[in-house]
Amino acid sequence: MAHILELIRADHDFIRSLLDDLAGDPKTRDLRCITLRRELPGHIYAEEATLYARLRDVIPEEIRQSVREHGDIRDMLARLEAIPLRDGAWVPALARLREAIEAHFTAEEELIFPHAEHHLSRSSLFELSEEFVVEKQKAAEFVVM
Ligand SMILES: [Fe+2]
Ligand SMILES: [Fe+2]
Repeated sequence: MAHILELIRADHDFIRSLLDDLAGDPKTRDLRCITLRRELPGHIYAEEATLYARLRDVIPEEIRQSVREHGDIRDMLARLEAIPLRDGAWVPALARLREAIEAHFTAEEELIFPHAEHHLSRSSLFELSEEFVVEKQKAAEFVVM
């Protein structure tokens, strides 16, 4: 199995491509919205339960900031879901969510990942990947928001 940072990056790339499709192809929006609704909260929940929990004492300010961003993203996703797909407000709401997600993913990859690689051993990065998969599965079962 890959280590946790590889799993997180793969999730990021999958969510990025979902958002590209959502912005570019109106015909498949219904289905992609359902996928986003499942993937994004699960990803966020699993990160907080694993990587963030492990780094909270090491880089508290960075983790607090990242958790705040998760809160903003959850709120924006809830707002987007409240707008009907064919409403004129939907596209700008998606654009705002996409911008927030991209800024957050970039911050994780460029700021949090180097700390994780520096402070956590290779074996804990692999261990954490198993926990990450379990937590994501839990989130999918209970639809955590
Ligand atoms: Fe995150
Ligand atoms: Fe992430």
